[in-house]
Amino acid sequence: MELQGKIAVVAGASGGIGRELSRALAKQGAHVFLVGRREEVLEALKRDIEEKGGKANVYLADLANEESVSGLTKSIEQKFGRVDILFNAQGIGIYKKFPDITFEDWKRQMVVNVDSVFLLSQKLLPLLEKSDKAYVISMGSGMGKVAVPGRSPYCASKFALRGLMLSLAKEYRKTHIRFVILTLGSVLTAFGPLSLEEKIEKQKEGKRYLDPVWLAEHIVTKLKHDTLFPETSIYPKHYLEESRRGKT
Ligand SMILES: NC(=O)c1ccc[n+]([C@@H]2O[C@H](COP(=O)([O-])OP(=O)(O)OC[C@H]3O[C@@H](n4cnc5c(N)ncnc54)[C@H](OP(=O)(O)O)[C@@H]3O)[C@@H](O)[C@H]2O)c1
Repeated sequence: MELQGKIAVVAGASGGIGRELSRALAKQGAHVFLVGRREEVLEALKRDIEEKGGKANVYLADLANEESVSGLTKSIEQKFGRVDILFNAQGIGIYKKFPDITFEDWKRQMVVNVDSVFLLSQKLLPLLEKSDKAYVISMGSGMGKVAVPGRSPYCASKFALRGLMLSLAKEYRKTHIRFVILTLGSVLTAFGPLSLEEKIEKQKEGKRYLDPVWLAEHIVTKLKHDTLFPETSIYPKHYLEESRRGKT
């Protein structure tokens, strides 16, 4: 897919993976619509992209809220009239032992990681249909394939997301819209209960993480060459073996 002039929506653009995806897409000439809640982070990213000659807009949205997603959709429709690429890079990770999980934790995990993808993908569908060739790409996890202890809400959300994306990939396989789940191993971002600094310490002790800059370039290269499968897995070395032993 030629990325020059394409309209790309990056939900979760203020996060570690979304930020680098936005930069990589802009570098290839896509106009990036940066979505998240943290205005300062998104505005700084927009400036950075524009200083490098790229094009970006910021839209603040709580993707857990249906009205907020409807507002975002209207704004994109008015500005661009179509969408070529939707990246779902939003997400949270609730890592707690089963007795400690509140029903609020559970609902929050599901609404941010699963409902938001359903809402965004469905509401943007008429704009994706206007593209010659469109992609909806969601950030899944190895934990949506291999369950680990102490993270049941997160695992459940990523199994559900994977089911949603793989079902849509089949439903739309004869159309020009591709649905892709990226099944990722650990990435060096501030995601989940550990801070970035704590992860850097763990990395020094031997834990393997994917570098978000490398990851974003890798994904965008695959997008450019149309080599993304409905499920595309990208893991650091030994990630799956460690997950199976409950060590991630
Ligand atoms: N890092 C990893 O090891 C890893 C591994 C596998 C899969 N993943 C998945 O990759 C995705 C991105 O992870 P990351 O590492 O980039 O995490 P991150 O740095 O914590 O970023 C999370 C993003 O989600 C957004 N977000 C959270 N709740 C939101 C809400 N209610 N409304 C709008 N945006 C919301 C945040 O934006 P605001 O705070 O600005 O709203 C932020 O941009 C997640 O789905 C995660 O499950 C991550």
